[in-house]
Amino acid sequence: MRTTLHTAATLALALALPLAAQADPFPDADHAAAKDMHDRLCIECHERRFSGEGGSAIYTRPDRRVTTPSALSQQLTTCTTMLNLDLFPEDEHHLAGYLNKLYYKFE
Ligand code: HEC
Repeated sequence: MRTTLHTAATLALALALPLAAQADPFPDADHAAAKDMHDRLCIECHERRFSGEGGSAIYTRPDRRVTTPSALSQQLTTCTTMLNLDLFPEDEHHLAGYLNKLYYKFE
């Protein structure tokens, strides 16, 4: 009886783990719309200051600032506010999801 319970618990855990690993901190982000916004609004300035990799060096530099999903959202708000871009919160969500998928890969 004990062995059976233990086996069942192990099995349940094994089934749950792959699901947990796929959790997306920015669910349903529209990556196509985000790419369009990112190409138009974000790359040029980043490329000017952190040149290389087509403007994405800023996201991959060793001492990058963003180390958590919430820091990513916050930095996005900082950049868009600095620019007076007036993006909707949904747009920032799409951008965060897009950058996370390509560079940060937070789960
Ligand atoms: C006017 C210039 C400028 C524009 C335009 C700009 N940013 Fe930035 N961004 C910066 C600077 C400068 C930093 C680095 C800040 C630092 O290192 O202290 C930065 C950093 C970031 C980071 C953090 C990178 C890291 O270190 O992990 C993210 C994410 C980011 N920007 C997103 C965006 C997005 C998305 C847009 C477009 C909607 C955008 N930025 C537009 C200037 C800009």
